[in-house]
Amino acid sequence: MAFAHGKVILFGEHAVVFGRTAIAAALDRGVTATARQGPAALTIRPWGVTLTSSEAPPLEHRRLRDAWDAVRATYEGRADELVIDADVAVHAAAGLGCSAALGVAIVGAIDEALGAVTTASERAGRAMAWERVFHGAPSGVDAAISASGGVIAFRRDAPIERLRPRREMSLVVAFGGEASSTKEMVASVARQRERSADRVEQTFDGIETLTRNARLAIEAADAVAVGQLFDLNQMLLASLALSTPRLEVLCRTAREAGATGAKLTGAGGGGCIVAAARDARSATTIVAALVALGADAFTTELKP
Ligand code: PMV
Repeated sequence: MAFAHGKVILFGEHAVVFGRTAIAAALDRGVTATARQGPAALTIRPWGVTLTSSEAPPLEHRRLRDAWDAVRATYEGRADELVIDADVAVHAAAGLGCSAALGVAIVGAIDEALGAVTTASERAGRAMAWERVFHGAPSGVDAAISASGGVIAFRRDAPIERLRPRREMSLVVAFGGEASSTKEMVASVARQRERSADRVEQTFDGIETLTRNARLAIEAADAVAVGQLFDLNQMLLASLALSTPRLEVLCRTAREAGATGAKLTGAGGGGCIVAAARDARSATTIVAALVALGADAFTTELKP
């Protein structure tokens, strides 16, 4: 059985598409997948979806089918007789890296069935065929963290760097219920950059500076500094029209419940926020405040 992590981007989403560094943390929850010999099929269990290579997919699953085809194509025929079952335990379209986790888990399951021993970076690289179908020109941060686990600093076309907090840090993640499209949000930022290149590039530079400071704050396990940097990153993301009233309410509620700071995570335009807590007990209080607003909130830890 192959497992791939869901993720939260802590710093640098969107800027990472344009060559800046992002910091991402893996979630314990993610996608598991298995593969066995048989006529090619892909089942995604909780969604009630089964695709076969011989039948045309329903319209709403065409991209899923294209993504599966794209992954199989990278195996040049060796993965054409495999039945794949995937179990998804992260929200889709929420900025938690569900699509990358599916791709990485499917690649992992195929590799296992073929008896191929692969590295996390090889699996992430192959899963980019999957990601490109959904996101156009993804930076690759989602696939990288999904395959590697832990906390990483990611920059396009550079090896990932692992970050190790001095002690465990508690974060809270909350899904507000609004679906978001990474492709659309990335396209919206690209349009803004075409119209006002200087402003948008300066915003990315500002985010890059926060990310540089955030590496130190995470390694020092300084929850107050991480929270302050979250707030600043959120302001810059909001200036790119990536926040929503719902995300702002979730961030404010988290801060009022004791979070040291909060921001949207992932593409924005809906989806999730991430908040920094002083300790595990405070994280529980923040979760309760967010759940009271109807959000699906949970804690996650950055581990040394
Ligand atoms: O897939 P999401 O919603 O977590 O967003 C991915 C992060 C972006 O920086 C917005 C896009 C990318 O390709 O890195």
